[in-house]
Order: sequence, then structure tokens, then C-alpha cells
Amino acid sequence: MAEFVDWIVHHAGQLLTLAGGGPRRGREMGELGLIHDGAVAIADGRIVAVGTTAQVLGRYRAHREISAAGRVVLPGFVDAHTHPIFAGSRQGEFERRIAGATYLEIMAAGGGIMSTVRATRAASVTQLVDEARPRLSRMLAHGTTTAEAKTGYGLTTVDELKSLQAVAALSASQPLELVPTFLGAHAVPEEYAGRADEYVDLVVDEMLPAVCEKAQIAPMFCDVFCDQGAFDLQQTRRILKMAKSQGMGLKVHADEFVHLGAVSLAAELGAVSAEHLLHTPREELAAAAEEGMVAVLLPGTPFGLSHHDYADARTMIEVGLPVALGTDLNPGTCYCESMPFIMALACRFMSMTPAEALVASTVNAAYAIDRGSDLGSLQPGFAADLLVLDADDYRHLAYHFGTNLVQTVIKRGQVVFTSGSE
Ligand code: NIG
Ligand code: FE
Repeated sequence: MAEFVDWIVHHAGQLLTLAGGGPRRGREMGELGLIHDGAVAIADGRIVAVGTTAQVLGRYRAHREISAAGRVVLPGFVDAHTHPIFAGSRQGEFERRIAGATYLEIMAAGGGIMSTVRATRAASVTQLVDEARPRLSRMLAHGTTTAEAKTGYGLTTVDELKSLQAVAALSASQPLELVPTFLGAHAVPEEYAGRADEYVDLVVDEMLPAVCEKAQIAPMFCDVFCDQGAFDLQQTRRILKMAKSQGMGLKVHADEFVHLGAVSLAAELGAVSAEHLLHTPREELAAAAEEGMVAVLLPGTPFGLSHHDYADARTMIEVGLPVALGTDLNPGTCYCESMPFIMALACRFMSMTPAEALVASTVNAAYAIDRGSDLGSLQPGFAADLLVLDADDYRHLAYHFGTNLVQTVIKRGQVVFTSGSE
């Protein structure tokens, strides 16, 4: 007797399961778990079975079916690094950079992150939610079904709490799942200019305890922007140690502009990931691999800044460090919601193969937010988050850029986007 399920997606020309255990490293980063003529059975928002169409249809019958004949079916993307909660935008700065100003110069002159901080502080939770919602819809339409979401444009206790409330409200009211990260140490706010250590006191003594207090909005991770013009190694250590003592997972923005040693610090403190990594020496990458960390790479950021340096993904893969990708969606360095575009950049500027870029956008990105046992691959018991592409070969995702090849998005067993429905 066939068992009844909610959905069966069948006859996929290429079904990419990404199945396995643990983040993929080294040669495994190219393994997609590809099944030709594949099918997936879904019930109650979870995957029940994955196999060939003959295997799945031999055991299950569905209330609803999707034929993916000649198409690619794969897990929904996990965007491992975003800053989606902000008010306003910074197109004027973009124009100034084209005329020759650098990102760090604009930041030192009170622009950059601080100009978004001023706008974000002036906005209510409702305004922040209303401004972020269309960004999340665009992410979903480009295949992202889960995203890490950082605060960091409030920089007072009240305004950081406001951003976390916005993340919680958005997570509860639209299909894209958000995993909150507290980034109170994103910049030294202007009222603390020249008194960075005092701002760090505020983060440690007041903000971290306050954001952990309310279970409904408590962040899962704490991140620090450790770089020139932001926080130094000592300050980063203080903040991350306090966050760890509060039970938060740790992340760090490391070596985006200059090398300060934050990757080694993160490894020492048991961080789940280090992110950006444009100037990290090989020995530090190898040590991070030993500690089981994930590297989150963000090629949209150098692209967004018209820089020519990209993270050295090949060395990371060589030393066995699992690589994940994220958009870094933010109004300053990278206003981009599309993971396929990030994959297109990863292949061209970091010499990742299309298969490696896909692994980095699914299973490894899920591990970068500590959700690898539920998201990022198609296996029985995992969340039914999957995509059907308007393409017959997965390599089109990175190869054919500047257009959206995502045809259908399923989140927790519900069809939440079909192309042409926007
Ligand atoms: O990841 N590095 C720090 N934060 C962002 C930039 C934020 C902004 O400019 O608003 C980044 O690049
Ligand atoms: Fe960032």
C-alpha cells in the first residue's frame, strides 16, 4: 500500500541532494549527491523520502505533485551573512566611491555605517520591518529560504533591541526564516568617538545582557567587526568572551580590510565561523580548519566596492577549511539579495567550481549558522526547503548570470514563490 504525503516533486533531470553529515571540506566540496530522474516526497513541512522517481513513486502517493521534468531540484539557499535591518540607502556614497573616495575614508569622515545608523535610530520597529520586507521577498525569489540576519545599525541598547524585534517580527510574518545575530560592535558610534573602550564597556555590561534577556528576540550569535577603523583584537576578545559566557554562538568579521589576527582569536574561543577573510594567512586558515570552523566568504563585497582582491578560497579548500557563501546584503558595501549572483562571482573571482559554490550556498552555509542537521541538504527528516530551477543543469546557476533562474521556491513544504507570480 502506498503511503500518502503532501507533495511529491518528481522527474527532476538533476536532483542535488547534498546529503551527508557535517560540513564539506577539501574534495568533498565538489560533491552534490546528484540523482538523475530524482524525486522528493514531503509531508508536514519535512522531507519524507529522496530517491529516483521510480523509487519514490513506488512507495508514495501525493495530494499534490510538481513535475520537474528536465529541470534541476536542489535545497533552498542558506545566506550565511546578511545585514538586512536598516533604514534608508547610500547611493550617494556609491557615486562618491566611483569618483575616487575609499570606503574607509567615507567611514572616517562620519559617513558609511554611521549614516545608516542615524537613519536606523530614527526609524520605528514598524518602519524597519516595512523597509526590510521587500528585501526579504527578493531574497526568497532568488532562492534563499533561510538567512542569518545581523543587527548593527542601532548601536545603542534600545536601538539594537529594536533591530532584534524587527528580525523576530519579520521571521514570524513572511516565509524566509531568519537566524538573528547581535552585531552591537559593528562600528564605534560617533558619540563615542575616541572612546572606543567605553563603547565596548557598554556592549559588554549593558547590551549583551539586555539582548539575551527576552527569549522571543534573543540572538543566536554574537559577531564583532574586527578591523581597521572598527574594533581591535583586544576589544573583540572582551566582547566575544562575554557573549560566550551568555551562551551565544560566536562569529567574527575578520580581515576584510587589514589582517588583525581575529581568525585565530575566533578559533581559540570556539567560534562557529569567521567571515570575509580577505587578508588571512594560510597558517591561520589551517588552524581554523583544525578547530572545525567554517569560512564565510562574501565576494559581493569586493565587487560592490570595485576592489580587485577576493578571498583565497582555493587555499581554504586546500587546507580543509569548509567554505560557505553569503551575500553580505547591506546598504554600504554590497546591496545584493541574490545568492546565484554571489555564486557567479565566487566562480569567476575565487576560482570555485560551480559545484563548490553550490555546496557553499547550501550545506556549508547551514553549518555556518549551526543548522546543518536540519537545513541545506535534502534528506529524510530535514526541512522541506527546496527549489526548482528553470535550467537543465546546475552549472547554469553560476554560468548564466544577471537573470533569475529560480522557478519555484518551497519553504517548509509550502510553495512560497513561483516565477511570474511577483
Ligand atoms: O560586511 N564590514 C562591516 N559591515 C558591512 C558594511 C556595512 C556598511 O557599510 O553599512 C560589511 O561589509
Ligand atoms: Fe558583513
